Amino acid sequence: MLKGRDVLSILDFTKGELERLFETAFEMEKKGRGKLRLLEGKILATAFFEPSTRTRLSFEAAMLRLGGSAVGFSDVGRTSLAKGENLADTIRMLDAYADAIVIRHPIEGAAKLAAEVAKSPVINAGDGSRHHPTQAMIDLYTIWRELGGIDGKRIAVLGDLRYGRAATSLIYGLTSFGIEKLFLVSPPSLRLRQEVMDFLGGKVNFSEVENVGEVIGDIDVLYVTRVQRERFPDPAEYEKIKRSYRVDLGLLEKAKDSLIVLHPLPKVGEIDLEVDKTNFARYFKQAAYGVPVRMAILSLVLGAVGRLNDQT
Ligand code: NCD
Repeated sequence: MLKGRDVLSILDFTKGELERLFETAFEMEKKGRGKLRLLEGKILATAFFEPSTRTRLSFEAAMLRLGGSAVGFSDVGRTSLAKGENLADTIRMLDAYADAIVIRHPIEGAAKLAAEVAKSPVINAGDGSRHHPTQAMIDLYTIWRELGGIDGKRIAVLGDLRYGRAATSLIYGLTSFGIEKLFLVSPPSLRLRQEVMDFLGGKVNFSEVENVGEVIGDIDVLYVTRVQRERFPDPAEYEKIKRSYRVDLGLLEKAKDSLIVLHPLPKVGEIDLEVDKTNFARYFKQAAYGVPVRMAILSLVLGAVGRLNDQT
């Protein structure tokens, strides 16, 4: 079902496929920290044209835990791209060396172009401000694991909804589930882009809110994002907006005890450090779920998951 598929947008996956992915990720979690042999002999290529900590390392860790190997680059200055090679030629080479390719690129549509060139599955690890499907899978999995399901939940997404690809992908992903309410919380200049808003119409009950204090007592999940400094055309605009929202203990006093606070990370000041120590904070757990979820993605697209139960 997922074998051989590219992972370009969360919208390419049905609710049933996402649930199968969650169940596979949960199986991976239960296998613990040992090494499986599902992808023995397979090679993953990681091509990162933008900074990354979690995404690249968790993909590589996932591949190693599955018994496969990983090659790749995260410093474009040290590749032939620095000599003027075009993206399509670079992808052709990775396709020749590896069985699947993970790509992160600042240009929207770069992963799609890579998928057109490569025969192997291509996984989009972020293209500009557009899509970051595997992060959305981790975010949805975290809600599923921590709250026992996604349907019926009341969810607020706070921060840079305009340029944030993690926020955008999560919002798209939530349309596949029967959530009760979605609050889009942002300063006016960082509102969700019109094309995403148009997509939501009729699929999800949502409202736009400027101040998180208005909804904090009424939600099950608060998903926080940073302001995407690198995507601002005008640095002065970033300076004006960068401290316009903050999650701290005072705000959380009004929250339900069962509220969970998520963040794709990196966080750069929008969550007070005191919050890290509370039971609301689930963002480090969310980042840790990156490994089993990416193990599930890799084993599904590389067609190895049927052998999972044979593994001890
Ligand atoms: C996100 C990204 O790169 O889009 N990070 C991640 O993959 N965990 C979010 C961000 O950079 O703000």
